[in-house]
Amino acid sequence: MESHLDGVLGVKPLYRVIEAGQLADRIFQIWVEAPHVARHALAGQFLVIRIDEHGERIPLTVSAVSGDLVRIIFMAVGKTTHQLSALKAGDFIRDVAGPLGKPSEIGMRGTCVVVGGGAGIASCPIIARAARDAGNRVIGIIGARNAGYLILEDEMREACDDLLVATDDGSRGFHGFAADVLKEVIAGRKVDCVWIIGPAIMMKVTSEVTRPKGIRTFVSLNPIMVDGTGMCGSCRVQVGGETKFACVDGPEFDAHQVDFDLLMQRQRTYFDEEKVSLERYHEHACRCGEGGHHG
Ligand SMILES: Cc1cc2nc3c(=O)[nH]c(=O)nc-3n(C[C@H](O)[C@H](O)[C@H](O)COP(=O)(O)OP(=O)(O)OC[C@H]3O[C@@H](n4cnc5c(N)ncnc54)[C@H](O)[C@@H]3O)c2cc1C
Ligand code: FES
Repeated sequence: MESHLDGVLGVKPLYRVIEAGQLADRIFQIWVEAPHVARHALAGQFLVIRIDEHGERIPLTVSAVSGDLVRIIFMAVGKTTHQLSALKAGDFIRDVAGPLGKPSEIGMRGTCVVVGGGAGIASCPIIARAARDAGNRVIGIIGARNAGYLILEDEMREACDDLLVATDDGSRGFHGFAADVLKEVIAGRKVDCVWIIGPAIMMKVTSEVTRPKGIRTFVSLNPIMVDGTGMCGSCRVQVGGETKFACVDGPEFDAHQVDFDLLMQRQRTYFDEEKVSLERYHEHACRCGEGGHHG
C-alpha cells in the first residue's frame, strides 16, 4: 500500500505502520512492522526512529512485541511526536533502529513493584510480565494527572498480581501521587525490588520513598539521545558520581545513585529551539491543511 509520504519525499519508506490510534489525552500508540526489533527486543530496551529522511531521531521505548510487530506509545510533546501522532495504518516510518540499550535486570527477586507515571506507563507491562515470568510476585502502580491521561490499565491488571491506580486529582483510583501509593505498599509488606518509569521529576521524588529502606530501585532515564549507540555523548548522565551514557550503559540505572537535577537541567538544553520547531510544524500543517492530533 502506498503511503502519503511516498510522493512528498520520493524515498522508499521501510517500516509499515500496521495500526495507529490515540490512547488518552495527547498519548498515542503505533504498531509498526519491524521484525529485526521484534525478534530480539527485551523489557527495558528502546528504539531510535526517524519518520523521514529529513526528520530528527528520537528514542522511544519498546512497549510491546507481537510477532513481527513492535508497539511504541508516546506523548505528543514536540514536533516529531506530533508528526508521529498523525501517522495512520498504511503509512511508513523511514528508520527504526534497535533494540538499543541494556534490558531490565529482571531476575528472581521476590516481590517487585512496577511504578509508571504518565507516558512512562508505556514501559510497564513488558517489565511486569518479564518479572512475573521470572517467578516474582508483581505489584503494579500506575499514576497520571487525571483519568484522561491514564493508559494501559487493563493490560497492567493482567500483567500484575495486584494493580493500584492513582490520579493527582482523584478522578480515578487513589487521590494523590504514585509515590504516596508506593509508600503505603512498602509500609505494609516486604518489597525486594522496584522499577519507576515516568517524567524525571516523578522518578526523583518516587525513588526517595525506597531509599530509607534500601530497596533496590531502578529508573529508566530519558536524557536527549541522538545516535543511541554511544557515539555522540548527548545522553551523558551522572550515576554514582560517574559519567554514563544512558543509551549504552542504561537506560535503566540504580535510582539512588542518579543525579536527577543534572538530568533535568540537560533535558532543557534545546528548549527554545524545540519550541520554534513545533510552532513551525503547526504553521506548516495549517497551511497544508494537514490533520494531525494537536494536544
Ligand atoms: C530511552 C528513552 C526512551 C523514551 N521512551 C519514550 C516513550 O516510550 N514514550 C514517550 O512519550 N517518550 C519517550 N521518550 C522521550 C521522547 O524521546 C521525547 O519525548 C521525544 O524525543 C520528543 O521529541 P519531539 O520532537 O516531539 O519534541 P521536542 O520539542 O524536540 O522536545 C520536547 C522534549 O522532549 C525531550 N527530547 C527532545 N528530543 C529528544 C531526543 N532526541 N531524545 C530524548 N529526549 C528528547 C526533551 O526533554 C525536550 O525538552 C524516551 C526517551 C528516552 C531517552
Ligand atoms: S545517544 Fe549518543 S552517546 Fe548516547
